[in-house]
Amino acid sequence: MKMLDVVNGPKNVSRIILGCMRMPALSVDEAARMISVASDMGINFFDHATCYGDGEAETRFGDALPKTGIRREDIFLQSKCGLHFDTKEFNWSKEDILKSTDEILSRLKTDYLDALLLHRPDLLYDPEEIAEAFDQLYTAGKVKYFGVSNVTPMQLELLRKYVKQPLIFNQLQFSLDQSQLVDQALYLNNKTTDRSIDRDNGILDYCRLHDITIQAWSPLQIGMFKGCFVDHPDFPELNEVLGQLGEKYGVPKTAIAIAWILRHPAKMQAIAGTMNPDHLKDICDATKVDLTHNEWYQLYLASGKFLP
Ligand SMILES: NC(=O)c1ccc[n+]([C@@H]2O[C@H](COP(=O)([O-])OP(=O)(O)OC[C@H]3O[C@@H](n4cnc5c(N)ncnc54)[C@H](OP(=O)(O)O)[C@@H]3O)[C@@H](O)[C@H]2O)c1
Repeated sequence: MKMLDVVNGPKNVSRIILGCMRMPALSVDEAARMISVASDMGINFFDHATCYGDGEAETRFGDALPKTGIRREDIFLQSKCGLHFDTKEFNWSKEDILKSTDEILSRLKTDYLDALLLHRPDLLYDPEEIAEAFDQLYTAGKVKYFGVSNVTPMQLELLRKYVKQPLIFNQLQFSLDQSQLVDQALYLNNKTTDRSIDRDNGILDYCRLHDITIQAWSPLQIGMFKGCFVDHPDFPELNEVLGQLGEKYGVPKTAIAIAWILRHPAKMQAIAGTMNPDHLKDICDATKVDLTHNEWYQLYLASGKFLP
């Protein structure tokens, strides 16, 4: 496993995170096995959110961890709050952040979170309220580190004006299929392609400038949730290059797709959502691969992009 020392944050965390969004589909014993397999692969970082199975993912994890023999202090537990699909709103109010965190801790059966992220912007967010909530959680020892998810540079500027603690993570979608984070820089000012559209106001460079580690979510998904592009008939060129490089490095295609994310000098983490132990092993093989500069471009171009 490749490890990472997060600037202003924890040291020695795994570059691959196990995302627990799909954990509600597992029994407690299956979840314990999944956590153990991840740990055997060198993964020490687990991602949750209050909305994953409406709390069920956290509950399952909290019930399963004691069965694994893994000590709480040896893993890094992260969750996200703010999404309320039941009441059809996003909420970053102080009251909601505090209440959600207490509920997360109770479901995960722990007395602290290593990181709490705000999941997706609440259109009514007040950075002063958020700062108060984070201060209270930090002082009470309930949360060690803070971050955000799907947040733009200006929103981060506004939050950083008030929040005392460093914001060390931004969870963003990034993959060979969903490569918006890097596309705009290549096609800048080019009217012939939609890839030149600035969709995030330069969030990649902003995060690098301010030492915010990007966590790439859904690293294998087509679109939002349309399945995996590896071995998908709609991606023949990409799968050919994934196959060639997989053969060269002696790893599965999936590992090459993840290695493409890890190769970026921003030193991102990749969040794997599979609950299949064999698939997770394939993904972790990514950490055995160091793609060359040219191989990174070969994969990018094979995923349907072109040099302007
Ligand atoms: N912050 C946010 O807004 C946000 C949004 C979405 C997700 N997330 C986080 O990102 C995590 C990952 O999301 P995700 O599950 O959508 O994406 P993903 O990890 O990219 O998984 C996508 C698909 O790839 C398949 N796959 C994985 N390994 C494979 C292999 N070796 N061979 C064949 N197929 C393989 C999976 O199928 P199988 O399940 O069959 O293995 C799954 O259907 C979530 O758990 C969550 O923690 C965050």
